[in-house]
Amino acid sequence: MKAVKLTALVLKRLEKAARRAAKSSYSPYSKFPVGAAVLSWSGRTFTGCNVENASYGLCNCAERTAIFSAIAAGERGITAVVVYTPTVTPSSPCGACRQVINEFGPTAAVVSVCDSKERIETNLDKLLPSAFGPQSLL
Ligand code: THU
Repeated sequence: MKAVKLTALVLKRLEKAARRAAKSSYSPYSKFPVGAAVLSWSGRTFTGCNVENASYGLCNCAERTAIFSAIAAGERGITAVVVYTPTVTPSSPCGACRQVINEFGPTAAVVSVCDSKERIETNLDKLLPSAFGPQSLL
Protein backbone atom coordinates (compact mmCIF):
# COMPACT_ATOMS: atom_id res chain seq x y z
CA MET A 1 0.00 0.00 0.00
CA LYS A 2 1.25 3.50 -0.88
CA ALA A 3 2.10 5.41 2.30
CA VAL A 4 0.52 8.77 3.06
CA LYS A 5 3.03 11.65 2.83
CA LEU A 6 4.23 13.16 6.09
CA THR A 7 3.49 16.82 5.43
CA ALA A 8 4.10 19.56 7.99
CA LEU A 9 0.36 19.66 8.63
CA VAL A 10 0.14 15.91 9.26
CA LEU A 11 3.15 16.12 11.57
CA LYS A 12 1.50 18.93 13.56
CA ARG A 13 -1.61 16.79 13.93
CA LEU A 14 0.46 13.85 15.18
CA GLU A 15 2.29 16.05 17.70
CA LYS A 16 -0.96 17.36 19.09
CA ALA A 17 -2.33 13.82 19.34
CA ALA A 18 0.81 12.59 21.14
CA ARG A 19 0.61 15.41 23.70
CA ARG A 20 -3.06 14.70 24.34
CA ALA A 21 -2.45 10.94 24.63
CA ALA A 22 -0.04 11.51 27.53
CA LYS A 23 -3.01 12.70 29.58
CA SER A 24 -4.33 9.12 29.61
CA SER A 25 -1.03 7.72 30.86
CA TYR A 26 -1.23 5.19 33.70
CA SER A 27 2.13 5.82 35.35
CA PRO A 28 1.69 5.78 39.16
CA TYR A 29 5.17 4.24 39.65
CA SER A 30 7.41 6.37 37.43
CA LYS A 31 5.11 9.42 37.45
CA PHE A 32 6.41 9.97 33.92
CA PRO A 33 3.45 10.33 31.56
CA VAL A 34 4.36 9.64 27.93
CA GLY A 35 2.18 9.98 24.84
CA ALA A 36 2.66 8.72 21.31
CA ALA A 37 0.93 8.99 17.97
CA VAL A 38 1.58 6.94 14.86
CA LEU A 39 0.56 7.53 11.26
CA SER A 40 -0.53 4.35 9.52
CA TRP A 41 -0.05 3.54 5.86
CA SER A 42 -3.70 4.35 5.23
CA GLY A 43 -3.30 7.80 6.78
CA ARG A 44 -5.04 7.19 10.08
CA THR A 45 -3.65 8.40 13.39
CA PHE A 46 -3.46 6.03 16.36
CA THR A 47 -2.44 7.14 19.82
CA GLY A 48 -1.10 5.47 22.92
CA CYS A 49 0.25 6.18 26.37
CA ASN A 50 2.49 4.28 28.74
CA VAL A 51 0.63 1.73 30.85
CA GLU A 52 2.49 0.63 33.97
CA ASN A 53 2.00 -2.32 36.28
CA ALA A 54 2.73 -3.12 39.93
CA SER A 55 4.91 -5.84 38.45
CA TYR A 56 7.27 -3.23 36.99
CA GLY A 57 8.64 -5.36 34.16
CA LEU A 58 5.22 -5.44 32.53
CA CYS A 59 5.10 -1.68 31.89
CA ASN A 60 4.27 -0.88 28.28
CA CYS A 61 5.61 2.22 26.57
CA ALA A 62 3.41 4.77 24.82
CA GLU A 63 4.93 4.00 21.42
CA ARG A 64 4.12 0.30 21.61
CA THR A 65 0.59 0.98 22.87
CA ALA A 66 -0.03 3.21 19.83
CA ILE A 67 1.48 0.73 17.36
CA PHE A 68 -0.42 -2.22 18.80
CA SER A 69 -3.67 -0.23 18.54
CA ALA A 70 -2.98 0.45 14.88
CA ILE A 71 -2.22 -3.18 14.15
CA ALA A 72 -5.24 -4.37 16.13
CA ALA A 73 -7.39 -2.07 13.98
CA GLY A 74 -6.15 -3.84 10.86
CA GLU A 75 -3.31 -1.54 9.80
CA ARG A 76 -0.14 -3.24 8.57
CA GLY A 77 2.42 -0.45 8.37
CA ILE A 78 3.39 2.89 9.84
CA THR A 79 5.19 5.84 8.32
CA ALA A 80 5.73 8.03 11.37
CA VAL A 81 5.92 7.87 15.14
CA VAL A 82 5.75 10.94 17.36
CA VAL A 83 6.59 10.62 21.05
CA TYR A 84 5.97 13.27 23.68
CA THR A 85 7.74 13.29 27.05
CA PRO A 86 7.10 15.85 29.82
CA THR A 87 10.72 16.99 29.83
CA VAL A 88 12.78 19.98 28.72
CA THR A 89 14.79 17.85 26.31
CA PRO A 90 13.21 15.32 23.94
CA SER A 91 13.77 11.56 24.41
CA SER A 92 14.14 8.88 21.78
CA PRO A 93 12.15 5.63 21.92
CA CYS A 94 13.65 2.85 24.04
CA GLY A 95 15.29 -0.18 22.46
CA ALA A 96 12.21 -2.39 22.75
CA CYS A 97 10.09 0.25 21.00
CA ARG A 98 12.68 0.70 18.25
CA GLN A 99 12.45 -3.03 17.55
CA VAL A 100 8.64 -2.91 17.42
CA ILE A 101 8.69 0.18 15.16
CA ASN A 102 11.10 -1.71 12.88
CA GLU A 103 8.56 -4.50 12.38
CA PHE A 104 5.96 -2.14 10.91
CA GLY A 105 7.98 0.86 9.71
CA PRO A 106 11.66 0.14 9.14
CA THR A 107 12.20 3.58 7.61
CA ALA A 108 9.50 5.42 9.57
CA ALA A 109 10.07 9.02 10.63
CA VAL A 110 10.60 9.20 14.39
CA VAL A 111 9.94 12.56 15.99
CA SER A 112 10.42 13.36 19.68
CA VAL A 113 8.82 16.42 21.23
CA CYS A 114 8.76 17.73 24.77
CA ASP A 115 7.86 20.76 26.87
CA SER A 116 10.44 23.03 25.24
CA LYS A 117 10.99 23.93 21.59
CA GLU A 118 13.70 21.28 21.37
CA ARG A 119 12.89 18.29 19.19
CA ILE A 120 14.53 15.32 17.48
CA GLU A 121 13.53 14.39 13.94
CA THR A 122 15.11 11.21 12.67
CA ASN A 123 14.31 7.85 11.07
CA LEU A 124 14.05 4.39 12.53
CA ASP A 125 16.93 3.02 10.45
CA LYS A 126 19.19 5.66 12.01
CA LEU A 127 18.04 4.70 15.52
CA LEU A 128 18.30 0.96 14.87
CA PRO A 129 20.92 0.22 12.21
CA SER A 130 21.41 -3.37 11.02
CA ALA A 131 18.07 -4.28 12.58
CA PHE A 132 16.87 -7.83 13.04
CA GLY A 133 13.55 -7.95 11.21
CA PRO A 134 11.18 -10.12 9.21
CA GLN A 135 13.79 -10.45 6.44
CA SER A 136 16.27 -11.95 8.92
CA LEU A 137 14.22 -15.11 9.41
CA LEU A 138 14.55 -18.26 7.28
N1 THU B 1 8.40 5.29 28.45
C1 THU B 1 7.64 5.40 27.32
O1 THU B 1 6.42 5.23 27.36
N2 THU B 1 8.26 5.70 26.17
C2 THU B 1 9.56 6.03 26.03
O2 THU B 1 10.02 6.34 24.95
C3 THU B 1 10.42 6.01 27.23
C4 THU B 1 9.83 5.43 28.45
C5 THU B 1 7.72 5.00 29.70
C6 THU B 1 7.97 3.65 30.31
C7 THU B 1 7.68 3.92 31.77
O3 THU B 1 6.29 3.83 31.99
C8 THU B 1 8.09 5.36 31.97
O4 THU B 1 8.14 5.94 30.68
C9 THU B 1 9.44 5.53 32.66
O5 THU B 1 10.42 4.82 32.01
